[in-house]
Amino acid sequence: MSQPSPWLLQHLEQIHADAEVLDLASGCGRHCQPLLAKGCRVWAVDRDMHALQGIAPCQRLRRWVWDVETAGLPEALQVDVLLAFNYLHRGLFATLGRHLHRGGLLLHETFHIRNRQENGRPRREHFCWQQGEAERFFRQCGFRIVASEDGVASAGRWLTRIAAVRE
Ligand SMILES: C[S@@+](CC[C@H](N)C(=O)[O-])C[C@H]1O[C@@H](n2cnc3c(N)ncnc32)[C@H](O)[C@@H]1O
Repeated sequence: MSQPSPWLLQHLEQIHADAEVLDLASGCGRHCQPLLAKGCRVWAVDRDMHALQGIAPCQRLRRWVWDVETAGLPEALQVDVLLAFNYLHRGLFATLGRHLHRGGLLLHETFHIRNRQENGRPRREHFCWQQGEAERFFRQCGFRIVASEDGVASAGRWLTRIAAVRE
């Protein structure tokens, strides 16, 4: 899976060229490239150093080896755009709003429960959103949902997608 998600590409126009972006659990950085190409400054954070090393260097890219679940994100960290693709940790997500400037954009996509039921992945139910859960969750965390797809089929997987603005 090296191509960026269509969910990011669909929202790319809404992201300013001078935006600062945090790609949470970025892996090999498939979402960093379109943002860097646009001119954004990107923080790619992942606990897997080898995955981060796979991202082509760029002056506007910072690779950050960090376990976001045990260490959390630094209190003072604030960006314009937050990406969280193929990653779900409800405890951490509950505080993501603190790390976005007011009006900042969160783009999120991960498995819907139907993927586990039909394709057997992920193994842990906890890594999937239930139907309707993600929208409710982010609203309760102070986000305004600007777009969402819940239980949508994409490339043989069932996904939940959220685009939300920090109020
Ligand atoms: C399925 S990959 C998704 C990578 C990327 N977001 C994408 O969509 O291509 C999940 C990533 O989450 C990272 N990850 C899992 N737990 C993490 C943690 N506690 N702190 C930082 N990264 C973590 C893994 O190392 C892995 O690179």
